[in-house]
Order: sequence, then C-alpha cells, then structure tokens
Amino acid sequence: MTDIVRTRSALRARVLAWKRAGESIGVVPTMGALHAGHLSLVEAAKAANDRVIVTIFVNPKQFNSASDLENYPRTEEQDAEKLSPHEVEVIYVPDPDQIYPDGFATTVSVTGLTEGLCGAHRPGHFDGVTTVVCKLFLQTGADRAYFGQKDYQQLQVVTRMAMDLDIPVEVVGCPTVREDDGLALSSRNLLLPAEARVAAPGLNRAMSAMAEGLLGGGDVAALRATAEEAILAAGFERVEYLELRAADGLAPMASVDRPARLLAAAWIGGVRLIDNIAVG
Ligand code: PAJ
Repeated sequence: MTDIVRTRSALRARVLAWKRAGESIGVVPTMGALHAGHLSLVEAAKAANDRVIVTIFVNPKQFNSASDLENYPRTEEQDAEKLSPHEVEVIYVPDPDQIYPDGFATTVSVTGLTEGLCGAHRPGHFDGVTTVVCKLFLQTGADRAYFGQKDYQQLQVVTRMAMDLDIPVEVVGCPTVREDDGLALSSRNLLLPAEARVAAPGLNRAMSAMAEGLLGGGDVAALRATAEEAILAAGFERVEYLELRAADGLAPMASVDRPARLLAAAWIGGVRLIDNIAVG
C-alpha cells in the first residue's frame, strides 16, 4: 500500500524500519506532473530495490522566475493515481517547511559542470537543484537514486555532488522516454499551445540529423548552423544553446574523438524545451 507522507519524522520512521530489516531503498525525486518518463524511473527503482520512495516537491529555489514557478503544473491527486499500479511504498510530498525550515541558510553548489549549457541561462538553478536533492538524499537515506538522461547536465551535476560529499547513494541515469514523434516527455509539454506541440519534435529531428552528420565526419560549426536553421524553420522562436560536449564531464568538443553528447535548449510557444542525444 502506498503511503503519502508529508513530514521528515514520518518518513524517517519508515526508513529506519526498512534499514533495520536490511532492506534496500530506491528514491525517484520529482516535481510531480508525472508522465511516462517519471514512471520509467519508478520501474527501474522497483526492479533493483526492496522499497521505493517517490518524492514530489516543486522546489522554489530552482526556478528563475516567479511566473514559471506559479505556472508549474501541480497535479498531486492524478500523480498518486498514476503511481498506484506501480505499488511504491511511499510518496513523499514534503510540506515546504520540511525542506526549508525558518532561517534556512545553506546552499549546496557544484562548480564547473554547472557553468555552461542550462547553467549559463538559468542563474542559481543548479544550486537550487543540488540543495534540494542533497536534502532528499539525506532525508530518504536511499541506497540508489534514479534520474533521467533527459536532464543530462542535472544527472552529471547530481552524480558529482553525491561523490564529492560522500553521500552513500548510487546515482543511476535512465534513458529519455519520448513520444512517438520524437518529442522528449516533459511536464512542460502540458504548457505548449496546440500548434507548438505539433512543431516541437523539430528540435529532436534537427539534433538527430546533426548527430548523424557529426558521425559522418562533418564540420561541427557548419552542422550546428544547419541544425539551428532547421529548428527555427520548424517553428521555434529561439535556440538558447546547441552544443557538442563530452558525454562524461561535459567539456566542449570540436570534433567527435570520444563519446559525446549533443545538448540543446530552445523556445517554442513561450515554453523552454531541452533535449540531448548521444553522439557515437
Ligand atoms: P522533474 O522535472 O519532475 O524530473 C524528475 C526526474 O524525471 C528527473 O530525473 C528527470 O530527468 C526525469 N525525466 C523527466 N522527463 C523524462 C523523460 N522524458 N524520460 C526520462 N526521464 C525523465 O528534474 C527535476 O524534476 C528536479 O530538478 C528534481 C531532480 C526533482 C529536483 O527538484
């Protein structure tokens, strides 16, 4: 039976009992508005752990604007329904003061990895992510934590944080789940106007063509320019970034001489979408 738990103390009681029984714990941190991408993480967690906790917390510290935070979909009841067939033990929906008590004054900040890509366009975003994820790791005491490759930079940053702070959790990255037309599932897709939703797969299409060109030995700058043109022609208003980076460590790359990742953020219908794919 799934329990909805809203306080640290109630969570801790359950976690301690499981630990005493020698049971392993998997956690899936989310901000709710659950879709099949989130549920794939839940299934991965179920397959490898005795107990699974899904956390739902719309973390104010990682939003860049008050309106973005306000517009973020909040669908707790539907989320609980979607989780019901997956039979997780606990849905942890902390009251805000369980994460940020009065006087909260600590920031967990990863340097380097957070500086480009989304970090360059969303000041403070990753500090907000690492601060809340660090707390969720400590509150849940999880042995394994499941993150989507959809947010590739986030996955790298959180992995680094756990390693640097000796948090005894294994961070597991899981493949991006997509719609049939290639659009990566995202809670923000709910905000897309109908026309923008039709055009949105143009981002992944252009990225896939660019990746193919790169593997064929094409020039990075020329392929990038073609891909940006294709994204705009598909109906996007703006390409925020489109970059080739090392798959491990995210160093900029001028040619594909080791496993690489192509990462992008672009705006359509007033919504910011991100995507990334492996190159080689
Ligand atoms: P949220 O956007 O709700 O995503 C929760 C988890 O689901 C993340 O690990 C994300 O990468 C994964 N995810 C989202 N879309 C996916 C898809 N299409 N396929 C596979 N996995 C997908 O990311 C966050 O929340 C927050 O930053 C959080 C880590 C919870 C900290 O607040």
